[in-house]
Amino acid sequence: MTELFDADWLALREPVDHRSRPTAMLAPLQAWLQRHDSLQVLDLGSGRGSNLRYLAPRLSGRQHWWLLDHDAGLLQDARPIGPTVDVTPLVRDLRAPEGLPLDGVQLVTGSALLDLVSENWLSTLAAACSANRSAALFALNVDGQIHWQPSDPGDGALYAAFHEHHAGDKGFGPALGVDAGRCMHELFAGHGYTVVSMASPWQLTAADQPLRKLLIDGWVAAASAQRPDLAADFRRWRERRETDGGTLRVGHLDVLALPPE
Ligand SMILES: C[S@@+](CC[C@H](N)C(=O)[O-])C[C@H]1O[C@@H](n2cnc3c(N)ncnc32)[C@H](O)[C@@H]1O
Repeated sequence: MTELFDADWLALREPVDHRSRPTAMLAPLQAWLQRHDSLQVLDLGSGRGSNLRYLAPRLSGRQHWWLLDHDAGLLQDARPIGPTVDVTPLVRDLRAPEGLPLDGVQLVTGSALLDLVSENWLSTLAAACSANRSAALFALNVDGQIHWQPSDPGDGALYAAFHEHHAGDKGFGPALGVDAGRCMHELFAGHGYTVVSMASPWQLTAADQPLRKLLIDGWVAAASAQRPDLAADFRRWRERRETDGGTLRVGHLDVLALPPE
C-alpha cells in the first residue's frame, strides 16, 4: 500500500506549516551551505512543492531543486520560484532509499514525510547521506503531542486509535509515526552528524477552521478504520469538536543533521 495525499489538504496546510517552522534552524544550515558555490537539493515526498517555497527563498545563492514524489499530479503544482532557483520534478517511488539520486546533492530534505517511513528505511537513508556527505533537513515530523483547549472526554480514545493507525504500514514497513523526529536525530547522530531538533507546532485557532475541519475528518476516518467498534463515538466527538471554537496545538519536530567535517 502507498499513500496518496489530497492537493486541497496540502494547499490548506502550507501557510500553517510555513508559519510553524522555527526560523532559528536556518542559521546553522545557511552557515554550513556557505561552503558551496551552488546548491543541489533533493526534496523527498515533495508533493506540491511547499518545502521548496518555504526554504529556497531563505537560502542564498544559486540552487537546483530535485522534487521527488510518486504523484505526478501533485508535482505539476510545483512551479519554479525565481531566477536563481531551478526546479526538476522526478516522478519516482521513494520506497527503495538505496536507489535515491544523491550524487552531487548537498542537502536532502523533506516536510511532513518521515512519519510515513519505517526505521529501516530511515536508517538506510542516513547511511546513504553519510556516504555522500549530504546534510539533511526534515521538517514538520508529528510528535504526538496534541493539546486542545477545552478538552473533551472523548479525546483520549480518539487519539489512541488515531496514533495506532498512524503506526501502520504506509508502504515503507511499520511506520515511525510520532517517533520519526527522535529516530532521525538518533540515526544521524550515530553517523557523527551534528544534529539539531526544534519544535514546529501548529497553533490553530478558529481562524484556521477549514484546515481544522479536514484535520478532524482525517483523524476520525483513521481512528474509525482502526477501531470500527468505536466509530459512532468518534462521529459524536467530531460533531462536538467542529463547533467548540477552542484552540488546538499539534506538535511537530524539525530535525537538521550536518555531516562531520
Ligand atoms: C504529507 S505529504 C507532504 C507533501 C509535501 N512535502 C508538503 O509538505 O506539502 C507526503 C508526500 O509524500 C508522498 N509520498 C508518499 N509515499 C510515497 C512514495 N512511496 N514514493 C514517493 N512519494 C511518496 C506523497 O505523494 C505526498 O506528496
